Amino acid sequence: MSDTAETKLYEPPAALAGQAHVSGRAAYDKLVAEAEADYEGYWARLARELVTWKTPFTQVLDQSDAPFFKWFADGTLNVSYNCLDRNIERGLGDKTAIVFEADDGAVTKVTYSELLARVGKLANALKARGVKKGDRVVIYMPMSIEGVVAMQACARIGATHSVVFGGFSAQSLRDRIEDAGAVMVITADEQARGGKHLPLKSIVDEALAMPGTGSIKDVIVYKRTGGNIAWKDGRDLWLHELSAAAPEHCEPEWVGAEHPLFLLYTSGSTGKPKGVQHSTGGYLLHAALTTKWTFDLKPDDVFWCTADIGWVTGHTYITYGPLALGGTEIVFEGVPTYPDAGRFWKMIERHKVTIFYTAPTAIRSLIKAAEANDAVHPKSFDLSSLRILGSVGEPINPAAWEWYHLHVGGGRCPIVDTFWQTETGGHMITPLPGATTLVPGSCTLPFPGITAAIVDETGNDVPNGQGGILVVKKPWPSMIRTIYGDPERFKKSYYPPELKGYYLAGDGAIRDEKTGYFTITGRIDDVLNVSGHRMGTMEIESALVSCTDLVAEAAVVGRPDETTGEAICAFVVLKRPRPTGDEAKAIAKQLRDWVGKEIGPIAKPKDIRFGDNLPKTRSGKIMRRLLRSLAKGEAITQDTSTLENPAILDQLAQTN
Ligand code: PRX
Repeated sequence: MSDTAETKLYEPPAALAGQAHVSGRAAYDKLVAEAEADYEGYWARLARELVTWKTPFTQVLDQSDAPFFKWFADGTLNVSYNCLDRNIERGLGDKTAIVFEADDGAVTKVTYSELLARVGKLANALKARGVKKGDRVVIYMPMSIEGVVAMQACARIGATHSVVFGGFSAQSLRDRIEDAGAVMVITADEQARGGKHLPLKSIVDEALAMPGTGSIKDVIVYKRTGGNIAWKDGRDLWLHELSAAAPEHCEPEWVGAEHPLFLLYTSGSTGKPKGVQHSTGGYLLHAALTTKWTFDLKPDDVFWCTADIGWVTGHTYITYGPLALGGTEIVFEGVPTYPDAGRFWKMIERHKVTIFYTAPTAIRSLIKAAEANDAVHPKSFDLSSLRILGSVGEPINPAAWEWYHLHVGGGRCPIVDTFWQTETGGHMITPLPGATTLVPGSCTLPFPGITAAIVDETGNDVPNGQGGILVVKKPWPSMIRTIYGDPERFKKSYYPPELKGYYLAGDGAIRDEKTGYFTITGRIDDVLNVSGHRMGTMEIESALVSCTDLVAEAAVVGRPDETTGEAICAFVVLKRPRPTGDEAKAIAKQLRDWVGKEIGPIAKPKDIRFGDNLPKTRSGKIMRRLLRSLAKGEAITQDTSTLENPAILDQLAQTN
């Protein structure tokens, strides 16, 4: 983005900057310089300040087995102790930790002392069921206090949790259970979203009826709606019964800093979703530090991250970061459009939210609704409590940024556009609200200590103003440690030999010539970003071709979408003559439902097109760039002389 006359700049508001944890650009520059001068010393200082260690570490960064880096390896700690007991010892026992708002608007609050008691009981119950340090526990829960309790209880006993988003199908759940070799599933009877009750336990039952799930011994069920569910005696246990019988006090399991706190499955460009493994010490440090600096979290703040705990944003900025700092946060069960599209604004008003963190897709859909109906426009609510806004998960277009800034933030709240990934554990490139001048659409500058850079295919720096590949030059504390069970894939995916030992993010980016600000230009691999949810094109293709009765071949690409950022477009060759008209519509629906069942509703293609074949070169390679143009509805201007079957393009240009 060039610094043209039209580019509006937004300075940090003076009052906010004056009080901020990182106050003014000079303070930011000083931190960057500190990290540059003594990289390990910088991180060690912060790790001592923000984390309470049972045994202090003496080593900082161990690079002896690169790229399997270790941080603070000889230190021991417990994450749940850091998030709960430590705050109570500091006198915050009666402070509200979580304000939970249910789908129907009912509010429940828990203090730090109450949360600790609930975590202690569940932790003891897990232990009593034989769950041990290092065991993997799958959590398939609705947004709830119990979801946070389940994660914290695992952390307390050193079990490694693997949360599976409640929108994933039985098949996806099965795949994750098998890959992780999990011993237990914690779930709920149902979830309440948008006025409806949606199944969870029955999906677990379906997953556990599939092969490969024999490692699961118990299923713990949180009673959320009281809906009818099947029950398998000897395997299924009610969470409330187990907790009632268990003592409150549970001594934390002190684990090494490198002990795996969690696995979280995410999509890559090839193969099945990969289990991103995170550490304990380095992860907790960055979760706490970024919550403190990026959101400028203070004792009186009411923090609301709207993400689901099934995604990394919910891990770092609901379950761990805000609690590690003794903050008060909102946990919301429902959806932004129920009972109407004013729900977010109403909740900000009701709970006097001061920091609000959401995704561009949500903002874009709420803009549409607000423009059509004053009653759900932010101006119809008192949003004066807000002081900082955040954006995450996908690029925020300048028009949505300006609207968010003006109508939600009243023109006075900085927007932190936070770039990061499941693999990075926390923010990587982001403004700091009291220090960074904002440019809409740019995630601005690296978080202090993060050595983000843009390079070419051989790992050489490219000058500002010229786009390239986003990398991180040095390891950082909260980075992915490995892909669970597949260290070779970890190396191949993130540390390709040609990149000089830099971490490959998988995104393209460009830096402004004058300011050095980063703008993310999107994924450079076959990963799509739909409504801020990450999806591999290969995964969707495999789901389609697994419909063996119907599908012979399929290719999936993304195309820009005004609301969801990207939309999924599938090109399909059937095992029967190419359908048209109503038949094409009916088969497209059937395939959409199939993908929903194989992966989950978020993976359903928006657009399905049928052809007698796919555009291929004479050597049989699918020409995806042509498919991308077709998906966008562009006329084909590219060279098609190497194409085996050019006539196919007209067929594939037709939508159903
Ligand atoms: O393409 C980038 C995009 O989301 C990807 C990471 O997705 P996931 O691992 O699901 O984590 C999402 C929540 C952190 C990135 O590779 N992305 C994330 N944040 C931004 C972004 N793209 C542009 N701007 C952002 N602020």
